[in-house]
Amino acid sequence: MTALAQLPFEQAWPVASAPGLRALQAQGAVHKVRTATGDQAWLVTGYEEVRQLLADPRLGRSHPDPGSAARTGESVLFGGPLGDYETEDADHARMRSLLQPHFAPGRMRALRPRVEELTAGLLDELGRRDRPADLVEALAAPLPILVICELLGVPYQDRSRFRGWTRAAADVRDRARSEQGLAALFGYGRQLVARKRGQPGDDVISRLRAARGADDDEIAMLSMFLLFAGHETTVVAIGMGALMLLTHGRQWQALRDDPGLIPAAVEEMLRAPGTSGGGIPRYARADLQISGVPVRAGDLVLLDNGAANHDATAFPDPDRFDITRPAASHLTFGHGPRYCIGAPLARIELQAVFSQLIPRFPGMHLAVPAEQLTLDTGSLTRGLARLPVTW
Ligand code: HEM
Repeated sequence: MTALAQLPFEQAWPVASAPGLRALQAQGAVHKVRTATGDQAWLVTGYEEVRQLLADPRLGRSHPDPGSAARTGESVLFGGPLGDYETEDADHARMRSLLQPHFAPGRMRALRPRVEELTAGLLDELGRRDRPADLVEALAAPLPILVICELLGVPYQDRSRFRGWTRAAADVRDRARSEQGLAALFGYGRQLVARKRGQPGDDVISRLRAARGADDDEIAMLSMFLLFAGHETTVVAIGMGALMLLTHGRQWQALRDDPGLIPAAVEEMLRAPGTSGGGIPRYARADLQISGVPVRAGDLVLLDNGAANHDATAFPDPDRFDITRPAASHLTFGHGPRYCIGAPLARIELQAVFSQLIPRFPGMHLAVPAEQLTLDTGSLTRGLARLPVTW
């Protein structure tokens, strides 16, 4: 009997798929694997299969017996089952109905000029910095944090505290740290919601309070969930997108010559990095077959959207970074009923960044050999630790 593939896969270079994952993917669409916690799971790597299963009601986030469920890691929020097995669908529908209005197209359109202004401010500051400068610290990190702070009405000066907690909460190796981070974040959220009672603002937390239907604890939970979901992911995407362009000079040049290519390029920047965190977790709610492989109710199924984005049947020559390819059908934001609520906002941020960065710093290049760049592998989102650039 061959040994099960062990997650996480070793990644040689930050933006390339892990060779172990590619080898597995070449053998089929569904694989029995061992997770970082030693549990067994099914890893789904085929594009069509991942897409269909993301929308399949026979898979959910909860488990009837959470204590016995297989896990992917120690993070409280993403390492194992979430929510109440009996009420999952209703709870999820409620969460979406409370949050979705704040991300409606009209609201997002209204936000775009402000995102562009914040980007311009950060690029002004970057221009005054000593070279080389770290693009993660100067741009990729502060922009999504500024945006989510304004959107939610969270004070920007609290960023080092809440970023510390969200990072701790996302720790995949240390459950106690993850629990403490989440508890601290929730406590902070409650204080914030209480403060809005006396001083409501033009922000999502105040609007959630005004809409009623949710009590302060639920609003604190929802808003801290947004804070969590809404910034680290985008920090990683901006860093990865910049790295892809900085290592593909001709495509950087093409965007400089024709900014109309930016929206399509952003989709390719979202698709191309091979830094999958091991798949979007689900638990089978019934016995089912995936590509002829029998999966039992309660089994952990990892829908590897990163691998799906590198399935050659959906994206020919998938490891080639090509801003002109039609990449918008990527699964980076998931698919189906849990499709990322913040996807329009993330797209606005990425488009603002690259439509300004390239003309403002046309000669920007990496200040260290690309091979020296490393990923923060202890975290769920696995972003670049630093991105030193000069110009
Ligand atoms: C490039 C940046 C981002 C990426 C790659 C990303 C990725 C994802 C993915 C894959 C899911 C689906 C999870 C699942 O199926 O279980 C998701 C859900 C979600 N995302 Fe994002 N996201 C990003 C940015 C944002 C932003 C900016 C926000 C909010 C401001 C946000 C809020 C959410 C929320 C609330 C959900 C839960 C939706 C649900 O369960 O119905 N995300 N995101």
